[in-house]
Amino acid sequence: MFEQTDPNQIQLNSEGQLKHYLTTEGLSRELLTEILDTADSFVDMSAQQVKKVPLLRGKTVVNLFFEASTRTLSTFELAAKRLSADVLNLNISTSSTSKGETLKDTLMTLEAMHSDMFVVRHSDSGAAHFIAQHVTPDVAVINAGDGRHAHPTQAMLDMLTIRRHKGDFAPLVVAIVGDILHSRVARSQIHALRTLGAAEVRVIAPQTLLPKHIEALGVRVFTDMNEGLKDVDVVMMLRLQKERMTSALLPSESEFFKLYGLSEEKLALAKPDAVVMHPGPINRGVEIESVVADGPRSLILDQVTNGIAVRMAVMSMSMSGQTTEKQARLGNGE
Ligand code: NCD
Repeated sequence: MFEQTDPNQIQLNSEGQLKHYLTTEGLSRELLTEILDTADSFVDMSAQQVKKVPLLRGKTVVNLFFEASTRTLSTFELAAKRLSADVLNLNISTSSTSKGETLKDTLMTLEAMHSDMFVVRHSDSGAAHFIAQHVTPDVAVINAGDGRHAHPTQAMLDMLTIRRHKGDFAPLVVAIVGDILHSRVARSQIHALRTLGAAEVRVIAPQTLLPKHIEALGVRVFTDMNEGLKDVDVVMMLRLQKERMTSALLPSESEFFKLYGLSEEKLALAKPDAVVMHPGPINRGVEIESVVADGPRSLILDQVTNGIAVRMAVMSMSMSGQTTEKQARLGNGE
């Protein structure tokens, strides 16, 4: 665990623009909407024959992954390439930290290579925040998931997917279902949905998978899925984070599926036009039934597509926030 200070002191520049992207918590509705609007334009661009823009031409992006990932790493890589950056993927679990090098030494080595952006995934909460505090000015840091704390690009790709299908957030009742306790995705989603003005955010989970005081985030808590799903517009499923479970919090996977898995029968309790989402990787038959995951109401693959656009948006916005700040510094004669 790393020390936490107010993230906005670090992630925003003096003009209030993003210069790092660490968390959705505390970001204004205007800024979240700017991310969505920017991402929207990249969704359209990614469907064209030529999928590149020169916004990060000449910049070097390092994907610094201390924890395994497939879709997040590959969509960050594609996003950086579509912005014309040079990209280096570092899987640190197989690199120098396992030879005893400290995180600060790794950072200094990468800075000496004149990197412009670090995309960080780490199993410790606060890792991206720590790195943003310790990098040299001009280097942007993007959080690609830190421990149980935050996964802000996942949350915003989910918001983009919802907005593209439902239009406005104001009338929406959204349910987040499953392993809330270990989920960095759920925390970032809750902050984003509340800030964007969703009518109601529900969490549905067994008591053992609910963090203490979760109501303080402004959500309605349900332990009965049949009740919680009634009349919702969006069902956001989560993966059971077994790798983070230190004790037996579940009876069995089949029991979990019976009570909290999304079947067609349970989905029928939601609104007839309700959509279904999951950040992946999905465990079929544990969190979600295959007919639902592959069915007409599932947006799971749209989420992946939108992930590239959202990552392009936050990367280009942070790089431009860094440039503005640098110009201000130079103007002040620093
Ligand atoms: C999520 C993650 O790693 O936090 N997945 C992802 O980014 N695609 C959710 C998960 O692992 O369950």
